[in-house]
Amino acid sequence: MKMHIILAAALLACGSLLVAGPASSEGSAGENNLQSNIIIHPANTVGETDDALFSSFLEHMGRAVYHGIYEPGHPKADGDGFRRDVIDLLKPLGLELVRYPGGNFLSGYDWKDGIGPKQDRPRRLDLAWKSVETNQVGVDEFMKWCAKTGVKPMMGVNLGTAGAKEAIELMEYCNHPGGTYYSDLRKANGHPEPYGVKYWCLGNEMDGDWQICHKTAEEYGRLAYETGKLMKLMDPECRLTVCGSSAYRMSGDWETEVLKRTWPIADYIAIHGYYGVPDGDIPAFLASNLELEEYIKKVAGIIESVRHSKRSDRRVYISVDEWNVAYHGDRIPHEDCTEAPHIGEDHYVFVDSLAFASLFMTILRNCDNVKAACFAQLVNVLAPVLTENTEEGGRSWAQTIYWPFLHLSKWGRGTVLDMRIAGDTYDAGGRTGIGYLDSLAVLSRDKKELILFAVNRSLERDMDVKCDLSAFGGGRVAEHTVLNNDDLNAENTPEEPDRVKPRPGNGCRIEDGCLTGALEKHSWNVIRIRLDKGESK
Ligand code: AHR
Repeated sequence: MKMHIILAAALLACGSLLVAGPASSEGSAGENNLQSNIIIHPANTVGETDDALFSSFLEHMGRAVYHGIYEPGHPKADGDGFRRDVIDLLKPLGLELVRYPGGNFLSGYDWKDGIGPKQDRPRRLDLAWKSVETNQVGVDEFMKWCAKTGVKPMMGVNLGTAGAKEAIELMEYCNHPGGTYYSDLRKANGHPEPYGVKYWCLGNEMDGDWQICHKTAEEYGRLAYETGKLMKLMDPECRLTVCGSSAYRMSGDWETEVLKRTWPIADYIAIHGYYGVPDGDIPAFLASNLELEEYIKKVAGIIESVRHSKRSDRRVYISVDEWNVAYHGDRIPHEDCTEAPHIGEDHYVFVDSLAFASLFMTILRNCDNVKAACFAQLVNVLAPVLTENTEEGGRSWAQTIYWPFLHLSKWGRGTVLDMRIAGDTYDAGGRTGIGYLDSLAVLSRDKKELILFAVNRSLERDMDVKCDLSAFGGGRVAEHTVLNNDDLNAENTPEEPDRVKPRPGNGCRIEDGCLTGALEKHSWNVIRIRLDKGESK
């Protein structure tokens, strides 16, 4: 009842009754701008964002680690061989966690190969990516890189070729203070203090036939439970993620079985989602997040159903621990087994940043059920940052998808508001009624700012947006930031690293508690609204 009153009030707001118009097809409705009305109220909230939602993923794959974060001899490498230029690009992203070391790589990896004197470490064949793994970066180097980059580790344990024994040995190596074999080995390797790793993933994509030692849900569920049980004995506070599905089409029975078997130890269940351009259909691509929305809702429903069947008070949340736009790169393992091959190197174009923004907004809009998320990956492989490796060193630069992540990480933390949008829609990719406007509203943690994030999905028409802010006491527009480009295929390159980059917008104002704004066609927008009388930061 209350919601209906608020909706009606908002629809009548800003001086006009704005309702969703008939589905309009782009380019056919004349010169008029599209219309959208955002309906929000401070009393209608989804929940608080968890900092773990602002996380990423780094795998021993292609040039992510070697020639990505680690390149001894590069002019910008520090004394440990880590590229400072890459760290400098990553730091503004404000990442909370970085998931490591895989990925498919994890399921064949022996973490003990990557510790001790570097000259004694074995070169191994990595069958996941048909590569040579030199083991010059292992757990100790990764922890050092995390400290330098200001992120926390989310460690994966191999449940493919390895099992519970190797997992608890790794946990002992990382977290036990001393006086036992593996904790003393860590000390002997030059790391006296325990790392205090809190987040752990029990395997990777174990539902996929491509996975090294892939398992049935029953096999995996039992192994994950026994492994997690021992890990919780070592550290009852550790946060464990069990494998969910590798893709939406694979979800359902797998989650049900795995959750039934791991319920007492699972804190999160992972889902993975990668999105591309179906049949070159960009309007459908820009609505990819609607599939992710269905995926999250489906898995949230399964969690609730298992919880009821167990008559449990425990809460298990979703971790979207691999998500991204992914369609440009070649992810086929190299048959020639080289070190750090060029695989998975998507060169993102401008329009990808819009789909990426919508995917991330979807994750945040579901912050009541999703408590962790790692976009995949971080450097070179499906990444916001690319590097060159040349005789002279090589440059590094931010790709187009870097910007929406930075904006949402910087301003998307706080209370997510439940939002309704009344406005123009289109049909694409078999879906009807896709809103041209995709949006997210977040009330900052100090309650002094309301931040509206918005994608205008139209490729043809600008959009007039309205939002009644009277329930927030009005406010003033502190900043409007726009990411847009005339060329949907524009990309950032070492020669033109700033071709796609945010700029100020000036199409938004608030009068009598009503926000009106103009959103350019195919644009990403951040509208920061100052709710107090103070100066904006
Ligand atoms: O991120 C690349 C790969 O995609 C990961 O190794 C795997 O988990 C997923 O299939």
